[in-house]
Amino acid sequence: MRILFTGGSGKAGRHVVPYLLAQGHRVTNLDLVPLEAEGVENLTADLTDSGQVWGALTQPSDFRDLEPPRGVPAYDAVVHFAAIPRIMIRSDNETYRVNTMGTYNVIEAALGLGIRKVIFASSETTYGICFADGERKPDYIPVDEEHPTLPGDSYAMSKVCNEATARCFQQRSGADIYGLRINNVFEPHEYAEKFPDFVADPDLRRRNIFAYIDARDLGRMVQCCLETDGLGYEVFNVANANSSVAISTDEVAERFYAGVPRKREMGPDETFYSIEKARRLVGFAPQVDWREEVGTEV
Ligand SMILES: NC(=O)c1ccc[n+]([C@@H]2O[C@H](COP(=O)([O-])OP(=O)(O)OC[C@H]3O[C@@H](n4cnc5c(N)ncnc54)[C@H](O)[C@@H]3O)[C@@H](O)[C@H]2O)c1
Repeated sequence: MRILFTGGSGKAGRHVVPYLLAQGHRVTNLDLVPLEAEGVENLTADLTDSGQVWGALTQPSDFRDLEPPRGVPAYDAVVHFAAIPRIMIRSDNETYRVNTMGTYNVIEAALGLGIRKVIFASSETTYGICFADGERKPDYIPVDEEHPTLPGDSYAMSKVCNEATARCFQQRSGADIYGLRINNVFEPHEYAEKFPDFVADPDLRRRNIFAYIDARDLGRMVQCCLETDGLGYEVFNVANANSSVAISTDEVAERFYAGVPRKREMGPDETFYSIEKARRLVGFAPQVDWREEVGTEV
């Protein structure tokens, strides 16, 4: 497929884009800064400017586009990751503006140009736990896509707004638009750096519902979504299969989720951030296990 990928130069994108290239896709990265990776075409543009988004989707992205047959080939899909990725980087209202306007502009232009598949990055923060003021426990565990999304911070609000925007555009167009409620992303080099601390103090993972997502497995999820047509609008939790701490499911529940109902039986090391829907509807099968990445017995 020919894919326009936004935010490919960021933490997640710099792993997902090479993964998609390795699957045989042609990828143009639209970002404020280029991604220096072999085989990527880069377009520098600001997504909050609708004109730049329409231009990026219709102009040549590589000298190959100037060769016959004439005319710029159409994109088959848009994968939209560009955003300000949490609170406390920019002012709250700027985070909200960039994330919501960027997403509106990308989906509007993609559908306006006849693209029938849009995959966009939403977030675990929509459940209101990650950036809660004080501790907020889930309504039940494991947290699945039916859990209420009522966050109190501007970043998560922007993601809830984006989900509503995507859903409205989907019902108007009939295209496939899939939102990924991505958990906390880890790059390969971060396991050895960070997970020993999580082993020593599981409380460090409380705001992430004790889950994590490997950046390469996130690439696998995007590929699953590219391969699966006809779902209309859907959102998916995206995490690895196990939890990010070294204590058992029962111990986590006892220490951190006293009084929180369990919706179903859970495995002894299963993620509290349910990925059953992604498994069932798009065949997501994450492969990374943090224990193997850390490389020591824990
Ligand atoms: N990192 C995480 O743990 C995590 C968790 C859940 C969801 N997400 C979401 O996943 C996506 C990727 O996150 P990330 O960690 O790679 O973020 P990142 O900040 O590392 O990368 C985001 C990229 O978007 C680009 N960008 C920002 N504003 C732009 C604009 N106006 N126009 C064009 N490009 C712009 C940036 O230059 C950057 O390269 C984001 O949507 C984020 O909200 C991330």
